[in-house]
Amino acid sequence: MLLPSYKEARKRSKVLSEKEFYSIDKEFKTIGNNRKYFIKTYGCQMNEHDTENIKAMLEEIGFIEANDYLEADLIILNTCSIRENAHNKAFGMLGRIKHLKQSKKNLIVGLCGCMAQEEKVVDDIMKKYKWVNFVFGTHNIHRLPFILKEALESNNQEIEVCSKEGNIVEGMPVKRENSYKAYVNIMYGCDKFCTYCIVPYTRGKQRSRDKDDILKEVNDLVQKGYKEVTLLGQNVNAYGKDFDYKYNMENLLEDVSKTGIARIRFMTSHPWDFTDGMIDVIKKYPNIMPSIHLPVQSGSSRILKLMGRKYTKEEYIKLFDKIKTIPNVCVSTDIIVGFPDEQDEDFKETLDLVNYCKFDNAYTFIFSPREGTPAAKLKDSIPLSKKEERLHILNETVNKYFLESNRKLINTKVKVLVDGKSEKEGMLCGYTDTNKLINFYADANLIGQIVEVLVTDAKTWSLDGRVE
Ligand code: 5AD
Ligand code: SF4
Repeated sequence: MLLPSYKEARKRSKVLSEKEFYSIDKEFKTIGNNRKYFIKTYGCQMNEHDTENIKAMLEEIGFIEANDYLEADLIILNTCSIRENAHNKAFGMLGRIKHLKQSKKNLIVGLCGCMAQEEKVVDDIMKKYKWVNFVFGTHNIHRLPFILKEALESNNQEIEVCSKEGNIVEGMPVKRENSYKAYVNIMYGCDKFCTYCIVPYTRGKQRSRDKDDILKEVNDLVQKGYKEVTLLGQNVNAYGKDFDYKYNMENLLEDVSKTGIARIRFMTSHPWDFTDGMIDVIKKYPNIMPSIHLPVQSGSSRILKLMGRKYTKEEYIKLFDKIKTIPNVCVSTDIIVGFPDEQDEDFKETLDLVNYCKFDNAYTFIFSPREGTPAAKLKDSIPLSKKEERLHILNETVNKYFLESNRKLINTKVKVLVDGKSEKEGMLCGYTDTNKLINFYADANLIGQIVEVLVTDAKTWSLDGRVE
């Protein structure tokens, strides 16, 4: 049994990350024969991509995917810790699975992802959810076949959560959800320690993946006909800062661009590490999409300081203005309202910033205290009703600008990677270069291709159009 420890997770050593290769012995290959699995994924793209690895590992050992958790012999919840409601959703699902387990005694249940890295969650699982068969964390996903074998062979609850990040594991199998768009990890972990954020504890120290491994993965995807890659990391602009040689995000973007893949996206960016050189590279290479996610979190320099973001409102705006020199660029953001002791004046500054930046998209949240983070200990005199009111006002404001930005595209032609059938009857859907969702009329044989679409109408969160 290996339990999570926040004390360990907080530590940052200077030791460079090493690499190891995934492999499993023959004896594991039949563990899942005649068994079906179901994975429920919560949270960010990082988790979605981890699930793609987990699925492939399970299929390598004989499991097949179930359409529904009700028909599965193995259920895994890949969880998220970022806010309280992500927790509640996972525990709600565990409640439903408990009922199922009462009628299906051989059902195996596992929990992984960020919640597994939390001391309190694992403690609860051990005391109140004894029927959960196994728990593993974000640092040892590759160990799943071993943990699963143990769980199947013993009647004990298997808990294997490492708090210290281990090596970077290459060569894990992957079952990609999409045959044209792929996630590619470029780094793991985060060393920024923004005071509200649990990620540096659940995902560990920043570790950049070797550029050759990344480029090989992208080249393979190009060979397979993939049209788009999203380079993933908690803070991609810091890519390479942990190397003992000089190679950074600017260099990586340029090299990935040269693979010839049609579209490159990257996320998430911290304003701190966004360099002028990166902006130049984005301008130079047309296959790097002009779509930047640049979380601001607050428009008040006082709150930004309390958040440990290490930039002021003015510095953010300066960077924003530089990014806006990229032709046709769209900028999206994340904003938190109701940080401890956020005053009306602080919130007004956030609104002022939104009115200045007129973001093309924004994800807005009420501050959620995460146990173990510095912000969770701050005195907070602001009632929840006030925070909800601020979120409402903020949403009205950001939504106005989404619509404004979308309306500008009416009667223009946009390039779209066709994803598949839209929820709207008879239409297809996809995303523009600038990452706007568009529903349009076109022939279904265009799925997987990049096409020009005439924009005919604009809504707050999507566009309508047709292929002419
Ligand atoms: N409370 C509310 N929102 C949070 N985020 C991260 N931690 C918290 C928290 N404790 C938001 C930030 C981040 C996004 C992924 O989630 O805006 O950019
Ligand atoms: Fe969390 Fe992002 Fe800050 Fe890292 S940079 S601590 S992931 S908000």
